[in-house]
Amino acid sequence: MIKNICCIGAGYVGGPTMTVMAYKCPEIKITVVDMNAKRIADWNSDDFSKIPVFEPGLADLVKEVRGKNLFFSTEVDKAIDEADMIFMSVNTPTKEYGKGAGMAADLKYIELCARQIARVSKNNKIVVEKSTLPVRTAEAIRSILDNTGNHVKFQILSNPEFLAEGTAINDLLNADRVLIGGLQTEEGKAAIEELTAIYAHWIPRERIIQTNVWSSELSKLTANAFLAQRISSINSLSALCEKTEADVTEVAKAIGADSRIGNKFLTASVGFGGSCFQKDLLNLVYICHSLGLEEVAEYWNQVIKMNNYQKHRFADNIITTLYNTVSAKKIAFLGWAFKKNTNDTRETPAMYVADYLLEDLANIEVYDPKVTENQMYSDINHLNSRDNEVNHKQLKMVSDPYQACKDAHAVVILTEWDEFKELDWKKIHDNMMKPAFVFDGRNILKRQDMEALGFNYHGIGR
Ligand code: NAD
Ligand code: UGA
Repeated sequence: MIKNICCIGAGYVGGPTMTVMAYKCPEIKITVVDMNAKRIADWNSDDFSKIPVFEPGLADLVKEVRGKNLFFSTEVDKAIDEADMIFMSVNTPTKEYGKGAGMAADLKYIELCARQIARVSKNNKIVVEKSTLPVRTAEAIRSILDNTGNHVKFQILSNPEFLAEGTAINDLLNADRVLIGGLQTEEGKAAIEELTAIYAHWIPRERIIQTNVWSSELSKLTANAFLAQRISSINSLSALCEKTEADVTEVAKAIGADSRIGNKFLTASVGFGGSCFQKDLLNLVYICHSLGLEEVAEYWNQVIKMNNYQKHRFADNIITTLYNTVSAKKIAFLGWAFKKNTNDTRETPAMYVADYLLEDLANIEVYDPKVTENQMYSDINHLNSRDNEVNHKQLKMVSDPYQACKDAHAVVILTEWDEFKELDWKKIHDNMMKPAFVFDGRNILKRQDMEALGFNYHGIGR
């Protein structure tokens, strides 16, 4: 029976996942460790609004379990040593250097974890891959653990995470499925059962899928590929709708009513963002290339190409509509996060749209309820398109949506925050330059309402 868990990585997955696990398994002590001391200090903050991940419902749960059976710490070695089971929940971003740059997953953090576990461990442990990893990573981890350890026996499981940001707590509490992959040996199956018993505290057994370790690793990458593919599919149609007077929201409703297709993940948008879809698709494409499966690689690569096209098409449409120039014009951005109910901005479409408009010398004022100004500058600077100084001059963040929109030529909606629907749009219109344009990258506003107020309204695909 597992009594003590260590989770390496206190990020968007490690934090919420372990909080829910601690909440549902009061008899297990869980320590979440990270090498980022600031992040750990924030998780331990007395002010629960300061915990580093904004996620509806998360702060309340942390309040409930932190200090009881959930602990956040920088003492990685100690937590590894004490644990029976170790989750590796570290980041696996797209590699930015050397072999596979721009495509492969960078596994240096995972390798570091494995080496640390091997170095520190004195008794047998179950090591769980929680991070999203290329298929067959468990083989590399096994090799590290078996060859540098203190003759300790490790079992390696794959237990990918399927939560989506903004709905993480609900996704964790009511998961469609939990996937656990392991070696099909006696010891491997016993380890699978240990982890199954933990999830069975709150997930019905029939929703806990047990597979071999490779199927589990591959299923995570491909689940994200399928989800992203749906968005690129509907976004491709949005371009066609704009040329034909079909309305993409009506088309999505009509095709989604077919139970074989289903109605979820058919919202046309400025494009998908987030830390994982693009990274995992690139990784899948890279794996297929590496295995000589060129046609398969190219098939999935199209999903990324369509997403890039959509972001570019949206930004380009803004410039074309604003009489082919946004130079020195004020443009208001509502939203910077990659989706609502999160403070995460990784791969947010907003930064690509901003980058394109800044190139055309626009002045952009951004309002986002949860994203900090520092984060916004860090995002735009990371694109390396122009000097930090120029970015600071042309791009600003304000703490009030009305201020962002005041005297703007256009309002651009980049994130579907609910509060944007509730704004006083008449007041916004009154205070804008005329004609006043709205580019609704999330299709959250009603065309009729906006036109009645005098706006020149542009949705996606309608
Ligand atoms: P994140 O960047 O928010 O968190 C990762 C944390 O790991 C960081 O705080 C980092 O400091 C820490 N870390 C890295 N190496 C370490 C080491 N050797 N020792 C101690 N700490 C270390 O990343 P995330 O969004 O939580 O994603 C983690 C993994 O989960 C990724 O593989 C991702 O693909 C996958 N995933 C993410 C989501 C999501 O919604 N964000 C959902 C499902 C799966
Ligand atoms: C996604 C998956 O949904 C999770 O199952 C997975 O665990 C996670 O990736 C991961 O591996 O990181 P996430 O990226 O947090 O979760 O959020 P999503 O809800 O999937 O949204 C991703 C992007 O697609 C957002 O920019 C969102 O606005 C966009 N999107 C989503 C659309 O444009 N249209 C849709 O219909 C749905």
